[in-house]
Amino acid sequence: MTTHSHTLPANFEIGIAELDTQHKRLHALLLRLRDAVGKHYGFATNAILDELAIETRIHFAVEESLMRMLSFPDVESHITEHQALRDQLEKFRKRAQDFEVAEDLASFTLQWLNDHVDRFDREFVDHFLRAGIDPKAAPNSK
Ligand SMILES: [Fe+2]
Ligand SMILES: [Fe+2]
Repeated sequence: MTTHSHTLPANFEIGIAELDTQHKRLHALLLRLRDAVGKHYGFATNAILDELAIETRIHFAVEESLMRMLSFPDVESHITEHQALRDQLEKFRKRAQDFEVAEDLASFTLQWLNDHVDRFDREFVDHFLRAGIDPKAAPNSK
């Protein structure tokens, strides 16, 4: 394994506080997942996968309902992207104890999040802001 930076990538924040908070939480969970898999900690891997399942469900539900509510035109292709990650996490769950496969999946999933936020989530930001959402409305962000 090569060494990895634990810092957030450049261009990670999209400027909508609640979504940025959720993205950071997902990013942190994926780093913990990669770490647990790398150490072959099977129980921790399963526990983190459970947490990820919950956090991704919440996050995708928030984005998808905002896109629908605010009539974002590319909602269907965006949801297809989310579905790809849901499928990936499902695959992960089945292979989680096969640590070599799981290491690849952990790196892939982390990269997926970084790319998705930068390429897909960024695309709805202007639309949301024009529709009048408050970019600072957020839970207590860290
Ligand atoms: Fe997102
Ligand atoms: Fe998204």
